[in-house]
Amino acid sequence: MKWHRALLFLRLLATFAANRLYAHETAPDNAPVTNMPISGSSIVTLNATTVRLRWRAADPLLAGLLVQLHTLAETVTVSTSPTFPPDSSYSGTSAGLWVALSPFDIHVNVYARASGVTNASVSATGYTGEDPVPGACNLEFRMENDPNVHLRFSEFETVMEFAPANVGVARGEDPLSCDAGQGSRSRWQLTYEVYQYFLPEGDLSEGALFDGLKVVDSVEAVRRHGSKMSSLSSSSKTKLFGHAFPGLGVIHVVVVSDPSFNTSSLYVPAVTYSCNFSSVVPPTCHTQGEIFSLVFLTLLGTYGLFVCFTGHRFLEAEYFFFGFLISSFLCILLMGRYSAQSIQLCVLYSAVAGWWGGFLCALCRWRFGIPLLLTSLAGLVLGTLLAAVVMVTPVVNTEPLRNDLLYWVCVATGALVLPVLMLSCTRALNMAASAIVGSYVAVVALGLYLHAALPHVISSALLRRAVSPSYRQALLVLPFQILDGLLIVLWGALMVCGLLSQWRLTRDRPHFPQCPYQERRQHCGQPRPVDERSPLLFDGQDFGSQ
Ligand SMILES: *[C@@H]1O[C@H](CO)[C@@H](O)[C@H](O)[C@H]1NC(C)=O
Ligand SMILES: *[C@@H]1O[C@H](CO)[C@@H](O)[C@H](O)[C@H]1NC(C)=O
Ligand SMILES: *[C@@H]1O[C@H](CO)[C@@H](O)[C@H](O)[C@H]1NC(C)=O
Ligand SMILES: *[C@@H]1O[C@H](CO)[C@@H](O)[C@H](O)[C@H]1NC(C)=O
Repeated sequence: MKWHRALLFLRLLATFAANRLYAHETAPDNAPVTNMPISGSSIVTLNATTVRLRWRAADPLLAGLLVQLHTLAETVTVSTSPTFPPDSSYSGTSAGLWVALSPFDIHVNVYARASGVTNASVSATGYTGEDPVPGACNLEFRMENDPNVHLRFSEFETVMEFAPANVGVARGEDPLSCDAGQGSRSRWQLTYEVYQYFLPEGDLSEGALFDGLKVVDSVEAVRRHGSKMSSLSSSSKTKLFGHAFPGLGVIHVVVVSDPSFNTSSLYVPAVTYSCNFSSVVPPTCHTQGEIFSLVFLTLLGTYGLFVCFTGHRFLEAEYFFFGFLISSFLCILLMGRYSAQSIQLCVLYSAVAGWWGGFLCALCRWRFGIPLLLTSLAGLVLGTLLAAVVMVTPVVNTEPLRNDLLYWVCVATGALVLPVLMLSCTRALNMAASAIVGSYVAVVALGLYLHAALPHVISSALLRRAVSPSYRQALLVLPFQILDGLLIVLWGALMVCGLLSQWRLTRDRPHFPQCPYQERRQHCGQPRPVDERSPLLFDGQDFGSQ
């Protein structure tokens, strides 16, 4: 029987060796170890090779550790296991994990790798048993405890989602059930606040991102520096829509608070630039149809500046401008909503449509005059612009304005009030419309070059609302930075200068000079039959002779 035993022993030995070998292959726990400090963030260079990040967490008061990594463009994957199983790993440009500590844990190990060579900002925060645990009552995402803010973007809006939190427990204790009743100590008493923090406009650098993340690294800092998007109760939907700002970095932060201990915890923030980064280093932001829009808006902006200063002096040019704006806006709006064309084609078609609309308006002025009709068109554009300005204030985030009908009725009313009220002083309305709208278009074009978001938001919020059905739910928080302030001041200054310049240019002229067609006919000395001065057309001469 001796050889039997020997065989058994050999077999056991072989199995053991094979297991070791196998374990070694799939679980390369020989990954280089980096010891990390628990407070503050550090920059680590990652590549496709797995690294082991290690934190010391011996403090018995700590119940869990929230580990997070952020990169600018490359995807990082983090996990508590070196094999990166799907149910305990997370990938993204912002990725984090919640590690619950057992009483015997002295060190916490987290494994990370990136899709390419990249710098990552790595940090860990220790939470006590009284702090709520972010993402602990996860039902919809893959990881059991998912403290990440899930963020995606489209051309028009961003969508953020997060898993509900649970109340904290001391180190080593079992967490409370998520479906427990609404007792005094359950997840139903937790409240959530969602904040946005805007990175510097036009700065797509890694450094700006890492600095921004440092600014909002604690609950107090988030409350102080962030812009509040929404407050949610534990029964609200944990999904929020926002306005996508292409090329502007926005950090989305969620704070969960437990009122019974007056404690709060942060989720892993998520950052989006609402654009696809190029693969070159350093990455640049590409939005669809960038070149087309740039050329389109540059030409339009230059023309707007001309109209701002000389609008009332060259009426044909001014009405061309307004005709162009109205028909291109309507074209972009209808095409965006009802056709599946790319944005380039929409811009192209709307430029063509704008030409026709502008040409028609200029022709009307040239042939017939009709100042009342044409000025009301200009007034309508001005009214729409002013309504759009109101619609980017926090008013738009109120519940009633989620209703499309009410929203558009408000915009239409806003757009109509001004031209109707000011129609009796046609000249003033015409000059104001040229100055305000012309300078606005010029400021939008300038803002595009300086990467300022605000001027563009005013018109784009209206367009997005018309084009994208889901934009209705979006909460709009304005990124108001120094550059935006300067552009608004510039807008005001251009407006005033434009009004003065138009007044100077036209002070010796009749309010609405005759239309060129009639003028030419008179110059040619043709006798005009009296009945041709039709009152139906509200002839320019009537104004001119006043
Ligand atoms: C990844 O970085 C490590 C050092 O951190 C280096 O030893 C390794 O060669 C790199 N791997 C690749 C694929 O670049
Ligand atoms: C990482 O950061 C360092 C210092 O800021 C910089 O020199 C280096 O180019 C960065 N690496 C990558 C891959 O961006
Ligand atoms: C980014 O790229 C994806 C596919 O690569 C595309 O579906 C998406 O529309 C792009 N987003 C923008 C804003 O261009
Ligand atoms: C809750 O904590 C904050 C600071 O963390 C403090 O300012 C506030 O007074 C506390 N409230 C109560 C009711 O203890």
